[in-house]
Amino acid sequence: MSSAQQAVDHAITSRMSARAFTQQEVTREMITDILDVARRSPSGTNTQPWQVYVLQGASRDSLVDKVCAAHDAIRANPALAEEYREAYDYYPTQWVSPFIDRRRENGWSLYGLLGIGKGDKDKMHLQHQRNYKFFDAPVGLMFTLNRVMGRGSLVDYGMFLQSIMVAARARGLHTCPQAAWNGFSKIILPHIGAGDNEMLVCGMALGWADASDKVNTLVTPREPVESFTHWLA
Ligand SMILES: Cc1cc2nc3c(=O)[nH]c(=O)nc-3n(C[C@H](O)[C@H](O)[C@H](O)COP(=O)(O)O)c2cc1C
Repeated sequence: MSSAQQAVDHAITSRMSARAFTQQEVTREMITDILDVARRSPSGTNTQPWQVYVLQGASRDSLVDKVCAAHDAIRANPALAEEYREAYDYYPTQWVSPFIDRRRENGWSLYGLLGIGKGDKDKMHLQHQRNYKFFDAPVGLMFTLNRVMGRGSLVDYGMFLQSIMVAARARGLHTCPQAAWNGFSKIILPHIGAGDNEMLVCGMALGWADASDKVNTLVTPREPVESFTHWLA
């Protein structure tokens, strides 16, 4: 196997969603380098529909405070959830098998690892809220898309996001892509200074994974190639 093949395969297969990070700094140069690689991602007719907001220090911390407060307020008064809307349906409104089964397995293996039982709503709330702290990562990324763009731009966006995550791995960094932020766009968009024409695609935590935290030992399963590949003669 060539070293290029090894390096690329390793960067892709060693990516996992890290949910605990150390406080070790990620330099601006590293972030710029990662985005410089990711900007080579393909997009339909080279539209390059991405806008990236990098939050560190005070901008990161104050967003965390605002969204955690909103998340707590919704818990105290679930009717408030009505005020928060995602710009697009990331998940289906009606779940069917096998997707719902995989989703459930994913949730319960995470909670099981952390010793959170089915009825433990307090612990679930706190664990879910770790999203709104970027899992303690020193860098939070927010991704927006101009609202005039079509659904195809979300396909482009997926490639851009994966390029960021893979380029981060090549530098020893880890990420967690986060749709959990999407419902809070009415707080996030003004906070980051996004224009009225922008919608929030998702957020992402970026930093050095905390290897001592068991949450990062979660290994998620994948279906084998033959289960999703249809060979036509
Ligand atoms: C677009 C996108 C959004 C996601 N949003 C979240 C999220 O909000 N919080 C979270 O903990 N994980 C989130 N994930 C991570 C998935 O749960 C994870 O990718 C999946 O379980 C497979 O695990 P792995 O990334 O460790 O391989 C997201 C993944 C993607 C691709």
